[in-house]
Amino acid sequence: MEGVTSFGEKFYGRIKTRNLTNKQELLYKTLMPELEIESFTDINISNFAGIYLEIGFGGGEHVAQMAMNNHEDLFIGCEPFVNGIASLLVKIDANNIKNIRIYPGDARTFIRSIPDGVLSGVFLLFPDPWPKRKHIKRRFLQEKTITDIYNKLRIGGFWRLASDHNGYKEWILKLFNQEKFKNRFELKTFDKKNRPDVAIWAKTRYEQKAMEDILYVECIKNGSSNEVD
Ligand SMILES: C[S@@+](CC[C@H](N)C(=O)[O-])C[C@H]1O[C@@H](n2cnc3c(N)ncnc32)[C@H](O)[C@@H]1O
Repeated sequence: MEGVTSFGEKFYGRIKTRNLTNKQELLYKTLMPELEIESFTDINISNFAGIYLEIGFGGGEHVAQMAMNNHEDLFIGCEPFVNGIASLLVKIDANNIKNIRIYPGDARTFIRSIPDGVLSGVFLLFPDPWPKRKHIKRRFLQEKTITDIYNKLRIGGFWRLASDHNGYKEWILKLFNQEKFKNRFELKTFDKKNRPDVAIWAKTRYEQKAMEDILYVECIKNGSSNEVD
């Protein structure tokens, strides 16, 4: 299903699939207004050591766990899928999590509101693969999104990506190995056998049901310049 997210961007994906439970409805009315942000300027970052961004958090397993493991940091989750947001709200409420903010829309729009060089880390885990050739332009990972995120990361900041889709795994490596990005990021890759510890890199719902071999990639921002065109 395609739709328009709450802030007007055209988005290809599911916005809602089923009705919310009573608990989820209640949390949408009571908790969501405290956590929802419309842009980066809505956040008071001065109380946090690092600022992290998760793009497409799905049911929120990873962002919730990372926030619980790292109380001093702030985690911003972008996700237009209403049922996913509702699942995350239940986790935040049950675990009394204080260091998550939610942007309920397209991450590309939110990223534009972030000043350069402020993010300590970005997560793009099991993005929609859009396997048909004619849909490849819908993939989140494009030269443009890599450039934008490079600029928002601080030097030494990381971007973690994972996929079990063979076409997307090749796509990730092909894009990051372009001359333009090769010297800007230091690339580390892992497979299931040498996967980083879950205490450092929490599991997502998609990871738990992934059928194919998973590629994990961590890109560290190199260099002294904060800008690439
Ligand atoms: C395949 S699911 C993976 C969810 C989660 N990361 C996981 O591993 O369980 C991809 C998610 O990305 C979200 N998504 C797709 N495009 C997005 C975008 N432009 N901005 C934010 N989220 C997006 C979808 O709504 C979906 O929940």
